[in-house]
Amino acid sequence: MSSTKFISISSQKGGVGKTTVNILAASIFHFLGKESVAVIDCDYPQHSLEGLRHKELAHLQANPDKAAEFHALGQASYPIIACEVKEALSVAKEMENQYDLVFIDTPGTINVPGLLELWKQLDYVFMPLEADVLSVEATIPFAAALENFAKGQPGSRLKEYYAFWNKHIKSEKQAFYQRTEELFTEQGIPFLQSRLEHSVNYKKEAMRSTMFPLSKEFMRLGISNLIQEMAHIIFASEVPDSAKISPVTATASTNC
Ligand SMILES: Nc1ncnc2c1ncn2[C@@H]1O[C@H](COP(=O)(O)OP(=O)(O)O)[C@@H](O)[C@H]1O
Ligand SMILES: [Mg+2]
Repeated sequence: MSSTKFISISSQKGGVGKTTVNILAASIFHFLGKESVAVIDCDYPQHSLEGLRHKELAHLQANPDKAAEFHALGQASYPIIACEVKEALSVAKEMENQYDLVFIDTPGTINVPGLLELWKQLDYVFMPLEADVLSVEATIPFAAALENFAKGQPGSRLKEYYAFWNKHIKSEKQAFYQRTEELFTEQGIPFLQSRLEHSVNYKKEAMRSTMFPLSKEFMRLGISNLIQEMAHIIFASEVPDSAKISPVTATASTNC
């Protein structure tokens, strides 16, 4: 049995936070959870994750203080492999048993050659959505496609997919949140309890670092709870190192 878990934060709606949460999850599991992590960026042609890594590396090269800070971490960053969706399955298969966790960032559309086969390689999919009708309307058919074309299909390892709220604003639209969760329950789509708060901090580069741990102040935005909840699902009865993830372990400043 494979010791690698393949995860994607994915949906067919742009701008809901797929790439953001893939980075957050990969970085937190790697730097704070001490899992061995790799990332496949097949959001072709943007490859925003790979682009981010290049930007961070260039920043380190130009700033010796920042480079020294990185070396002081004593921990290498995780690999980010960019490819097209149709190549991602073979990239993923090569990573089998090499890493604890592989995060796969996919495009915001399902009409891409190779995507259905890639889905069958995923153990879990987490679907971010925002409190708007378009986001909800895009998530239901996406979940239906995962159900019909991946989960339970021959050779598929997809165990479950979960919706979760991103950009959550506590003071707004509570009835909308509740109605949507009821609708999803009727449709058999599970919802995570954790919600990621809407925050202007997401504009800061430190929030999407692939080379530094997330600082403590940012872990408070619902991120810590979300990652813990994901860890319990992903590792089920296993006792993951990530169960030890706690906001207090994060220290480094990450203004890269
Ligand atoms: N919880 C949040 N609060 C505020 N802005 C967010 C949040 N999550 C993501 N964003 C912002 O939303 C935008 C789209 O996010 P991104 O991850 O690129 O979406 P996708 O990959 O789904 O297209 C980015 O500018 C990102 O910084
Ligand atoms: Mg994206």
